[in-house]
Amino acid sequence: MSFQGKRVWITGASSGIGAGLARELASQGAHLLLSARREDELRKVQGECLADAASAEVLPLDLTDPEQVRHAAQSALQNHGPIDILIHCAGVSQRSLARDTSDAVDRALMEINYFGAVELTRAVLPAMLARKEGHLVVVSSVAGKIGTPLRSSYCAAKHALIGYFDSLRAEVFGDGIFVTTICPGYIATEISSKAYTGNGGRYGKVDAELQHAMSPTECARQILRAVAARKPEAVVSGPKERMAVYLRRFCPQLLFRLIRSHAPS
Ligand SMILES: NC(=O)c1ccc[n+]([C@@H]2O[C@H](COP(=O)([O-])OP(=O)(O)OC[C@H]3O[C@@H](n4cnc5c(N)ncnc54)[C@H](OP(=O)(O)O)[C@@H]3O)[C@@H](O)[C@H]2O)c1
Repeated sequence: MSFQGKRVWITGASSGIGAGLARELASQGAHLLLSARREDELRKVQGECLADAASAEVLPLDLTDPEQVRHAAQSALQNHGPIDILIHCAGVSQRSLARDTSDAVDRALMEINYFGAVELTRAVLPAMLARKEGHLVVVSSVAGKIGTPLRSSYCAAKHALIGYFDSLRAEVFGDGIFVTTICPGYIATEISSKAYTGNGGRYGKVDAELQHAMSPTECARQILRAVAARKPEAVVSGPKERMAVYLRRFCPQLLFRLIRSHAPS
């Protein structure tokens, strides 16, 4: 499958993996629709894409506001034509113990990481079903396979995404619609700096694991290879995270012990 001429809507396109996906898809001649909250950052990414992309438009959007999501989907379908591929990449992480995390932060993590993607899918799916064509791509995480300390609600939301999109994949397969779930491991972005702390503040630090991790560009390339191959699921990570996913499946008790031994006291 080639991305040339495909209409691709990316959420979380203002930075990190989403911006990497935009640049890679631009280099392959796709029509791009870029969404996130920060319009100035989206415009910078748009500027990097315009020379190569078939087109690149910006559609600012706060995924935690269902009304905005529905309105954006309507406007996208009316003004940009049918969406061939929708990539749910927006997300916010967490750095706080479960016991120190407020109800508001737990709910905010579910809103942005889970309900935002569900709401946008609900708004775009009818047009895909009518055309009997479309591809939904959701960026979950290795944290959607494995629960680790300081990320309880982030992990919960990423697990929820996998469950939702596994169900949807089976429901829409006969309608010509594909669903690909991506589980990245550590990727060198600012995700930890922007992660919520227990009281809704921002963590503000780049985790050591992220400093020498896979680049967003390499991550985007591997994601697009999985999408082109219409894989149902792909883990995009280094060997350590891949091994952890393997252990979670085949030797869960060993993995739980290892995770426990690295838990903050
Ligand atoms: N980096 C990693 O190690 C890693 C590992 C596994 C999974 N992931 C997942 O990969 C995805 C991308 O993360 P990243 O690492 O590239 O981090 P990032 O650079 O912080 O990107 C997060 C993106 O989400 C957008 N976003 C946040 N809240 C939003 C909201 N309410 N409405 C709309 N957009 C919103 C941000 O844009 P605005 O702030 O402009 O809204 C930004 O574009 C996330 O889903 C993350 O969970 C990352």
